[in-house]
Amino acid sequence: MDIARTPDMADAAPEPHDPVTIRREDYQPFGWLVPEVALDFDLGLETTRVTARLTLARNAKAPRAEAIRLNGDELEPVSVKRDGEVVNDWHRDGADLIVPLSGDAHALEIVTEVAPAKNTKLMGLYASSGMLCTQCEAEGFRRITFFPDRPDVLSTYRVRMSGDKATFPVLLSNGNPEASGEGDNGTHWAEWHDPWPKPSYLFALVAGDLVANSSSFTTMSGREVALNIYVREGDLPRTGHAMDSLKASMRWDEETFGREYDLDVFNIVAVSDFNMGAMENKGLNVFNTKYVLADPETATDADFDAVAGVIAHEYFHNWSGNRVTCRDWFQLSLKEGFTVLRDQLFSQYMGSDAVKRIEDVRVLRAAQFPEDSGPLAHPIRPDSYREISNFYTATVYNKGAEVIRMMRTMAGEEAFRKGSDLYFDRHDGEAATCEDFVRAMEDGAGLDLKQFRLWYSQAGTPKVRAQLTHEGNTATLHLSQIVPPTPGQPEKQPMPIPLKVALFDRASGERGEEHLLVLDKEEASFAFAGFAALPALSINRGFSAPVSIEREVAREELVFLAAHDDDPFARYEAMQDLIVGHLVDAIEGRLDEAQRAAGRADIAGALGAVLRDAALDDLMRGELLVLPGEGYLAEQQTVADPGKIHAERRALRAYLGAQLASDFTALYERAAKVPFALDAEASGARKIKTQALVYLAASDPARAAELAAQQYDMADNMTDRQGALMVLAGLDSPERTHKLLDFYNRYQGNALVIDKWFALQAGSLHPNVLEHVRALAKHPDFTLSNPNRVRSLYMAMAVNPQAFHAADGAGYAMIADLILALDPINPQTAARFVPPLGRWRRIEPLRAEQMRAQLERIAAAGNLSRDTQEQVARSLG
Ligand code: ARG
Ligand code: ZN
Repeated sequence: MDIARTPDMADAAPEPHDPVTIRREDYQPFGWLVPEVALDFDLGLETTRVTARLTLARNAKAPRAEAIRLNGDELEPVSVKRDGEVVNDWHRDGADLIVPLSGDAHALEIVTEVAPAKNTKLMGLYASSGMLCTQCEAEGFRRITFFPDRPDVLSTYRVRMSGDKATFPVLLSNGNPEASGEGDNGTHWAEWHDPWPKPSYLFALVAGDLVANSSSFTTMSGREVALNIYVREGDLPRTGHAMDSLKASMRWDEETFGREYDLDVFNIVAVSDFNMGAMENKGLNVFNTKYVLADPETATDADFDAVAGVIAHEYFHNWSGNRVTCRDWFQLSLKEGFTVLRDQLFSQYMGSDAVKRIEDVRVLRAAQFPEDSGPLAHPIRPDSYREISNFYTATVYNKGAEVIRMMRTMAGEEAFRKGSDLYFDRHDGEAATCEDFVRAMEDGAGLDLKQFRLWYSQAGTPKVRAQLTHEGNTATLHLSQIVPPTPGQPEKQPMPIPLKVALFDRASGERGEEHLLVLDKEEASFAFAGFAALPALSINRGFSAPVSIEREVAREELVFLAAHDDDPFARYEAMQDLIVGHLVDAIEGRLDEAQRAAGRADIAGALGAVLRDAALDDLMRGELLVLPGEGYLAEQQTVADPGKIHAERRALRAYLGAQLASDFTALYERAAKVPFALDAEASGARKIKTQALVYLAASDPARAAELAAQQYDMADNMTDRQGALMVLAGLDSPERTHKLLDFYNRYQGNALVIDKWFALQAGSLHPNVLEHVRALAKHPDFTLSNPNRVRSLYMAMAVNPQAFHAADGAGYAMIADLILALDPINPQTAARFVPPLGRWRRIEPLRAEQMRAQLERIAAAGNLSRDTQEQVARSLG
């Protein structure tokens, strides 16, 4: 409690009322329906004039309102007409426009003007290298016209665009094209109509000089859909993979979820200035070029996979997001969690099931676990926010996907499909809630999700303690769970945690039956009969629950599982646990020389077996070779010393590189002989080839530099070339300078590849990386106005532990400087750099103080955006 307050003090001090915090429990339906919207755009890069005509009808489900609130952001009304008459009885409330309405139905016509070329926030209508495009999710539409900019207001849109034909030969909007023609003075126009009611965040417009890769798709009911991927002229040859991925996504969604496309055209446009990955606007997806353009010469295998994944993600939103949308932004995971799960399943189906699952877990652990254990922790369905852009997080997306995946695991595939069918049928055309989804899963899939709903309301990664005991013929698994406290949630209830478990007889290597256990109490024990001796425990197989498992386990058991587990994820996990256990012990100073030697030797033994196992495919081998990341290692400690973590991990890699030098060399030589192809075999070979180089670089830098330079020169694809350059970028070799220069000259003019050039240097193991970043920030190709470029330099640095956590605090200062410089230009992107600094409470005291001081410095600056202000306040709070 704080100091006692006298009654007068209480009277004098108004209730602490915070007008900018939006709360989930305050949801109210909107007073008006807006069944139809007609938008007329007079397009110009400098000025675009927007005439919006809305039909309005009272919403019988909301309290009667005598006015309508139309949201605006940096807008001024040029004119307002009500029922055909110019009116002046409107007023402003902050940025919003309030128009009195006394009847039951009205028509409004509002004219606004916007300046796309000056819109550096890249929200609303903006210019990107000579073209016009839009980004409206979450609250960008209010930067185009005054409108009830909330996802529960659904309207059909008719859009007319007119503009200079030479500047904007292509005019696109949502839905189907209906008419077009020529105007005066070299102008032309086009009209589009979208028959499906949608919220304003799904509106899109594109106007520019674009060319299309065009194709078509026949849906399951035999309808022909025209497909177009629009890009800048020179990029056309790099659109084939995106087109193939789109068609595969459309087919897969029909076969797996029974979802058919519902318009005559599906358009994708690639733009080079984009805050996020891509956007699912109805019938007109707008993409960051990074997730459209790919060919072997300029894109890596990982880039190819990312393109397929994002194309699928946005396409799948047509049902999980567009046909069924969100009631309010607290429900964001309703569409994002579900759609991420859908894109993950698609990618599992298209490529290696096991490898994709491992990658997804790695992403979750690297991005979401730290979020869940830090000051920004929030449930997948948050309770409050100030700026919704800050909640497009790994928690809402990736943990959201894991939560729905758990339902699928508990229900089984078939029942899950019944649940998703019911959800789509029941809520088609509606703005739904997470609760609606859960109820459809209960009714359709036959699950009881009463307690499971806690996964939507409680933040924090549950910790599960597991202990296996043995007596007579029975093995008993003792499980207990703790859900750690998170901001605003000091106490937690136990959650249902579905764990796939199997026991292995250690003598024979044989596995018993796989069980799905649901731990739904604080503690529970499960008995397994038929084991003459203590078996080996394989738990959370397939990562059936997004939890961390804590158990004391002998190294021999992990070595056994790393070699024998038939569940690929569990096998990977055993390998990770073996290494994590050793490194954490070493970092925390618990090992004497003999213990350290024994631990290392076990790891080398297990890794050597992986290198030599002829039954493994190379993609999977590549996963087993990845050392646990420094962030994940830091997560294992209450308070981490990034310097020690980096040094121990690096030393282990050098040891393994030296110890297994001949195996790595043999592997390298075998892989180097595999000719280029886009299939799993060849891409697996490329993956392990560069991994072998990484290990060799740690133990024998001179030899690795030679091999890397050779790989660079001989490369006939970007995966090999980038891999080689990545290794060289971390070494102090003359080849480093030569190849970096060559790479720049070779790809100058290809922005996505030049992004790689920046990122390789900012992410490198080179000791002078901060100096390099400082110099690169002054490079003529660097600009704060392009988010991809900003991320390629500064996000690569912020996730490079040895750079970001430089002992003198220079990395922290550099990120804080960036945030302050970027915030006035692009607040959404600036705010994304705050979370790395927000980790300070879990870092050793000297660095923690430096990190906190940088946050204080940002907080003290005036005029911060709401985005950055919220993230900094939560990080300090
Ligand atoms: N809905 C988009 C997606 O597919 C993301 C859009 C986010 N936009 C934003 N300004 N935060 O995930
Ligand atoms: Zn999405």
